[in-house]
Amino acid sequence: MTEKRLWWKHGIIYQIYPRSFQDTNGDGIGDLAGVIQHLDYIQDLGVDAIWLSPINPSPDVDFGYDVADYHTIDPKFGNLQDFERLTQEAHKRNLHIIMDLVLSHSSDQHRWFQEAQKSVDNPYHNWYIWRDPAPDGGVPNNWMAMFGGSAWEYVEHLNKYYYHMFTKGQPDLNWHNPEVRSTMLDVFRYWLDKGVDGFRLDVFNNYFQDQQFRDNPPEAGFSLRKLVRKFEAQKHIYDTNQPEMIEVVEDIRSIMDCYPERYVVGETFLASSAQARTFIGPNRLHAGFDYGFCNAPFSAQAYGQAIQYWDALHGKDAWPNYFFNNHDTPRSTSRFARGDSDAIPKLLLTMQLTVRGTPYLYYGEEIGIRDISLPRSLIQDPVGKQYWPFNKGRDGCRSPMQWSARENAGFTSGEPWLPVNKDYRVRNVEAQAASPASLLAFYKELIAIRRAHPALNAGALELISTDDDDLLIYQRQEGDEKILVVLNFSRQITTCQLPIENFNKWELLYAGNEAITSQMTENDLNLPAYGFAILISRSE
Ligand code: NOJ
Repeated sequence: MTEKRLWWKHGIIYQIYPRSFQDTNGDGIGDLAGVIQHLDYIQDLGVDAIWLSPINPSPDVDFGYDVADYHTIDPKFGNLQDFERLTQEAHKRNLHIIMDLVLSHSSDQHRWFQEAQKSVDNPYHNWYIWRDPAPDGGVPNNWMAMFGGSAWEYVEHLNKYYYHMFTKGQPDLNWHNPEVRSTMLDVFRYWLDKGVDGFRLDVFNNYFQDQQFRDNPPEAGFSLRKLVRKFEAQKHIYDTNQPEMIEVVEDIRSIMDCYPERYVVGETFLASSAQARTFIGPNRLHAGFDYGFCNAPFSAQAYGQAIQYWDALHGKDAWPNYFFNNHDTPRSTSRFARGDSDAIPKLLLTMQLTVRGTPYLYYGEEIGIRDISLPRSLIQDPVGKQYWPFNKGRDGCRSPMQWSARENAGFTSGEPWLPVNKDYRVRNVEAQAASPASLLAFYKELIAIRRAHPALNAGALELISTDDDDLLIYQRQEGDEKILVVLNFSRQITTCQLPIENFNKWELLYAGNEAITSQMTENDLNLPAYGFAILISRSE
């Protein structure tokens, strides 16, 4: 019997970076009213849920990933009423809302930290991680901050250092303190009671650190990367992935399970895929992110291996997810597309939407937005500020949504907080909505096909071996429905002998919305450069 359709499992999740989606008050920063304005658009795409990057009040040292109050909405995005309206309006359209919870660290502007640094006797002092200076007065150990320098910041009047894995404006919370733990778990209940459907947990496997504060050992080998970013020159065995986290993950899940059909996905950070998997399961998180697929080089074999590995790791008990884009990663169009052609973005989406797992899409990828490139003076991201020019940071993939050919792509009537990509007069939603061969039309068609076919959104996956290194072939099956997917990663036209018996039982279900698409003749399949074919067989 086919399992009940679950929105987070069989559906698709669309990530919005709220600062960059739609501004409605002319301050150059997107807001919740802007998201509400486009709910029909999002519904029309055919997705099931929206993941909103953080919307809690934040001084924006790390653009929302430094939270100053976990219980309300940042005024630049709106207020609690706006959020409630967004949730209600989304629900009316069968769209679920996933909030980003940043609970590993807070902002240094949070009242708790302001109190914590007043004195060692302050009731909030122990809410953060403090250590005495080393005997020579230096930092307590060798832990580094991901965003540059030591992870320890000295507070003179206390003669103590506090720990921060990211910027010094993001002090880590002390999850070993039971008060912190229960307060943080209450944050889940607070938003669940407001009707939120799910959470994305920011760097959750960083909640705990080694209680003996041992030095991390060095990572072997030399590279420029390690020289520039000393964080990468260590093996992160004591500052992350501590065993205490398993129990917390189980606590979180039991809270989620008190509410119907809720979902929690974790951003595992500095963990192997196998470690990431340990946090997922029937009593743990519903899902986790892993960069194996996202970071694989553009090749049929590399993707085949990444998919096979991630799929097998999940087995029957868990459900994988797949993404190419998010607010931390250069857009896949900028990494892989050649020029303005949509051929590669279409091929990659076909793969992402036809493997077994929940696809995560990132705002703007449906129109093929490319990263912007900024001079140093315009860089906003702390990573870019710190590591320029070796790493220009993450602003590139956070540029405003391109709605139309109007001023600032219709994103704002003011000065956008980041420049809009210059191509917006050509590449925008309005133009693509009017063109049946557009990338946007392709996204909608493929999403609708995935939705309509249980083999694609729920079925088992089996990779099929082929002698052609540029082809990736797999079968999906659910009940009687079998679907075969063939993807051509080469820029050559290719003919593939279909690995199927009884080819006359198979038909071409979809090959894209270009003029030239894959053709099936007997059991030969002719694929254009970067072409693909989705075939379907139904047993009588
Ligand atoms: C991971 C988030 O995705 C990233 O944007 C942020 O900078 C760090 N966590 C710190 O919260």
